[in-house]
Amino acid sequence: MKVLIVYNVVDLLDKGSSDDLLAEQETKIVEDAVANSLRSFGHQVVSVPIRHELWEPLREFDPNEWLIFNLCESIRDKTYLEPYVISVYEYLHFRYTGSNRLTLATCLNKARAKEMLKAHNIPTAPFQVIAPGTVRRKLDFPLFVKPVAEDASLGITWASVVNNERELRQQLRFIWQTYRQPALVEQFIEGREFNVTVLGNDNPRVLPLSEINFAKIADPKKRIVTFKGKWIEDSDDYKFTSVISPAKVSETLRNRISEVAVGAYRAMGVRDYGRVDLRVMNGVPYVLEVNPNADLSPDAGIARSARVAGMNYAMLADEIVRLAAHRYRLKEPRPRIISLRLKAPRAGAEGVRAIPVSAFKQKAPRVERSAPPLAKPVPVGAV
Ligand SMILES: Nc1ncnc2c1ncn2[C@@H]1O[C@H](COP(=O)(O)OP(=O)(O)O)[C@@H](O)[C@H]1O
Ligand SMILES: [Mg+2]
Repeated sequence: MKVLIVYNVVDLLDKGSSDDLLAEQETKIVEDAVANSLRSFGHQVVSVPIRHELWEPLREFDPNEWLIFNLCESIRDKTYLEPYVISVYEYLHFRYTGSNRLTLATCLNKARAKEMLKAHNIPTAPFQVIAPGTVRRKLDFPLFVKPVAEDASLGITWASVVNNERELRQQLRFIWQTYRQPALVEQFIEGREFNVTVLGNDNPRVLPLSEINFAKIADPKKRIVTFKGKWIEDSDDYKFTSVISPAKVSETLRNRISEVAVGAYRAMGVRDYGRVDLRVMNGVPYVLEVNPNADLSPDAGIARSARVAGMNYAMLADEIVRLAAHRYRLKEPRPRIISLRLKAPRAGAEGVRAIPVSAFKQKAPRVERSAPPLAKPVPVGAV
């Protein structure tokens, strides 16, 4: 397959703190990893770095020949332009990996995403959006305060958990001033935290669950993934929030988490791959956020879960190409998650199947003759 890897090059940030650049520079690392992986699978690969211009660099390629592997998370250093990038692909008739612009745009705004989740009966923490001059607080403390439209733990510190009016006001001011946007104020969900990688389209599959190991943090209100915890390797936050994969969970909890994660994935119309972050309180998994086109860094959540399932990074990158190609009905090998005869235990009530650890370790994947049964009609809010 001819694959164009389109990725954004970050020079300067127009807002936020300088540390945030770390999160943005990851794209180049991912581009390298994906390019090498796809070449090792025999794909013809050309990388297209995007700085300020998007149209010109793409024009020289024939959309009928090339599939875009989309790693463009922002343009002109503005994350809110991520969906615009997709519009340009579509305008130029390119096919591309990952989610469409509606899904990306909706998930970028966490409040909009939560409204959609609620409409699909997916549990998510009660919330309100607070902009300068807004009304009154409706929820009871403790609360969690974050920018309404950022990701990668931008703006998240231990001060994000607030216990009284003074702390709330202080954190709101911080969000408004630093990120120039309203704050999302949510009920604080005290409990275990999981990252759930989902792959697929008609019949999405859940890779082995990852859990954040908060065992070294005594205070339950500090058991959160802060910006430092995600990005600054020599910080205490980082050392104290390692990831356990596969997570040690009972079968009941695993099924419940998988159902909620796949429900959220479908409700948001995610395609090919994504990661759902959730926290479990009183046995209920509450979705924090859905990440379409989630981070594909070799050391991040999706790649880790895939590895645990026996799918190395190169296979994962190739699988994403296969999933997109299959979705567009292109002549490519079928996605492994469809072709492999999965030794999955009984599907849960929602027809959700987890991918067993052993699934990708089979030597010669057996190709099923007939297509797998289609999933139940999906209540799609975003197509
Ligand atoms: N309502 C909440 N209750 C408890 N912790 C939360 C809540 N919302 C977010 N967090 C913590 O903050 C982290 C980042 O929040 P998340 O919504 O996933 O944003 P990001 O897009 O930055 O990853 C989560 O991994 C979790 O540890
Ligand atoms: Mg998250």
